[in-house]
Amino acid sequence: MRTHFCGAVNTQNLDGTVTVCGWAHSRRDHGGVIFIDLRDKSGVLQLVADPSENADVFAQANGVRNEYVLRATGIVRRRPEGTDNSRLSSGEVEVNLCRLEVLNTATALPFMPDDEGVSEEARLRHRVIDLRGTAMQSNLRRRHAMLAAVRQWFCERDFIDIETPLLTRTTPEGARDFLVPSRLQPDAFYALPQSPQLFKQMLMAAGFERYFQIARCFRDEDSRSDRQPEFSQIDVEMSFVEENDVMTMMEELVIAAFAAVNITLPQPFPRMNCTEAVRRFGIDRPDLRNPLELTDLGDLMAEVEFKVFREPAQAADGRVAALRLPGGASLSRKQIDELTAYVARYGARGLAYIKVINVTAGADGLQSPIIKFLPENVLAQLIERTQAVDGDIIFFGAGREDIVNASLAALRDRLGEDGNLLSDGWKPLWITDFPLFERDYERKRWNARHHPFTAPREGDERHLPEHPERVMSRAYDMTLNGVEIGGGSIRIHRVETQLAMLEALGIDETEARRQFGFLLQALESGAPPHGGVAFGLDRMAAMACQVQSIRDVIAFPKTQRGQCLLTKAPSSATSEQLQELHIKVAKRASPASDSL
Ligand code: AMO
Ligand code: AMP
Repeated sequence: MRTHFCGAVNTQNLDGTVTVCGWAHSRRDHGGVIFIDLRDKSGVLQLVADPSENADVFAQANGVRNEYVLRATGIVRRRPEGTDNSRLSSGEVEVNLCRLEVLNTATALPFMPDDEGVSEEARLRHRVIDLRGTAMQSNLRRRHAMLAAVRQWFCERDFIDIETPLLTRTTPEGARDFLVPSRLQPDAFYALPQSPQLFKQMLMAAGFERYFQIARCFRDEDSRSDRQPEFSQIDVEMSFVEENDVMTMMEELVIAAFAAVNITLPQPFPRMNCTEAVRRFGIDRPDLRNPLELTDLGDLMAEVEFKVFREPAQAADGRVAALRLPGGASLSRKQIDELTAYVARYGARGLAYIKVINVTAGADGLQSPIIKFLPENVLAQLIERTQAVDGDIIFFGAGREDIVNASLAALRDRLGEDGNLLSDGWKPLWITDFPLFERDYERKRWNARHHPFTAPREGDERHLPEHPERVMSRAYDMTLNGVEIGGGSIRIHRVETQLAMLEALGIDETEARRQFGFLLQALESGAPPHGGVAFGLDRMAAMACQVQSIRDVIAFPKTQRGQCLLTKAPSSATSEQLQELHIKVAKRASPASDSL
C-alpha cells in the first residue's frame, strides 16, 4: 500500500513521488491551504493540499479529522524557508498531495495521542488511543529491544526456551494464588503459576541443563507502581552451577539487555551481603546513588536515661540507629513534623532529632528536645560516630529492628529525593548471604525468605530443625538504583534437605509428599546440583524507560484493584458458566471503583 514510512521521507526524496499511510495526527487550515501531519510508527510527515493545484484532493483533505486513517500520494518538496521542523526526521520536507484516500474515519475521541494532562484512568480506559502516543510507542519498543537482546543472548549460549504450564498447582512464592475452577473435576482447581519455579527445577532433573523462558507469572497481591497481578519474568535455570557461575553470567545478560537500549551499566556489579546492606541502609536493596548512611548506636544508648533509646538498645530484636542529613539543621519544625508523620507509616512511633549548630560548644551547640536525656559523653561520641558537622541534623530510629530499618530506609529515600542528593547514572548491586528464613511476627512462625526450594549454606542444614534463625541461604538478589530487578538461588537438590526445609516451615513429610510429591520424586531420581534466577522484565523495562510505574511499559495493565479498565475484566460469569463449573456465588459485590 505504501512506498515509504512517514519518518523515512527526507531531502533524499526531493522531487520524488511517495505513497505513505497512517493517521491524521493533526490538520491545520492555513488561509486556504490545508496541512495534515500524517503519523505512522516511524514518525510524522507533513502533507499539503493546495486548492489552486488540485481541487479534489483539497476537498478530501478538508474533510479529514484527527485520527482518520489515510493513504496519500504526492511529490516531496523542500519546506519553504523558515518553516523547517527540527523535531521531525522529515522536518525539512513536505509532500504536495496529488491523491488522498480516507481508509477509515475516526469518531470524536476522548483525547488525542500525545495530549498532555490526560488522567491515567482515562488513558487505561481508552488504551488504544493512549498507545498511539509517542511515549507508549517508544516504551513498548524499548521493552521489545531489551527482550530481543535477552533472547539472543540466551540462544547464543545454548539455553533453550521451554514453555511450562499456566494451568497448574500452587507454586509457593509467598503470594496468594489465582485459582481456576475445573469443569471436569467438580471440587478441584488449577492455580495460575506464581512462577515456573518447580517446573524449571524438574527440567534440570530432566537433563536440559540450561533453560530460559519469558514467563508470565500471576500473583494475587495488591498492585503497586512496581507490581502487577500478572507480570513477566525472564526466568533462568542452570545445572552444575554455584552462586558465582549464575551471578557472573546473569550480570552479562542484564548488561546486554540495557545495552540494547543504549544504557551502559558499570561492570562488574558490586556485591554486598544482606547484613551489611541492612546495617548501612536499613534495607536489602539500597539505592547506592543516595550518599546517606545509617549509623548504629545500640552500644552507646544501652545505659542512657532516655527509655525510648535504652529499651530497644537492650532488646535482642531492637535497634537504635541514626541518619545524618548534611545541612539539615535548617529544616523547619513543620518539615520535621511532616517527616515524623512519614516514618509513622512504617510503624515508627516518633522521629527524634538533634540539630548540630556548633560542634565545638558540646551539648550547648546542639538543639533537640532529647538533649536533656543524653549524657555529654554520649552526645560527644554520637557526633564523632556520625561525623556530624555544623549545620547538620541527625535523625534517630529506635524500636523493633524491622520497624527501625523500614522507617529509616524510607526516610533515607525521601531525604535523598527531597534534597536532590542522588548521583546520576546506574548503580547495580548484588545482595548476597540472606538468611534462609524470616520471622512472621503476626503468625508467630518462620517463612522462607526467598522460597522453600532455596538451598541452605553448606554446613548450615544441621541448624534447620532447632535454630532456623541461624541458617543462611544460597540466594542472591540483583538490585539496580534501589529496585529489586531479580532474585534467585542455588536450589536444594537432595531430598533429605528439602524435607528438612519443609519441616522447618511446618510442613511434615506426609504433607510435603501430598503437595510437592512430584518435585521430591524428581530430586530422588537423580537431580543435579542446580540454580537460577528470575528477573522482573517489567521493572527492568520501566527503569530503562525512566518511568515511575510498570504500567507504563505494559500494553494492557491492571489497576490497583486488579481491573482492566479497557476490557472491564474481571467480569461476572453467567449462571450457566457457574453451573458448569459447579460454583455458587455467595454474594454479588457492588461494582468496584476504578482507582489506580
Ligand atoms: P521472585 O519472587 O523474587 O523470584 O521474583 C523475581 C522477580 O520478579 C519481579 N516481580 C514482579 N514484577 C512485577 N509484578 C510483581 N507482582 C512481581 N513480583 C515479582 C521482581 C523480582 O525480583 N522463582 C523465583 C526466582 C528464582 O528463584 O529463580 C521468583 O519468582 O523483579
Ligand atoms: P517522647 O518521649 O515520646 O515525647 O519522645 C521524645 C522524642 O523522641 C520525640 O522527638 C519523638 O519523636 C522521639 N521518639 C519517640 N519514639 C521514638 C522512636 N521509637 N524512634 C525514634 N524517635 C522516637
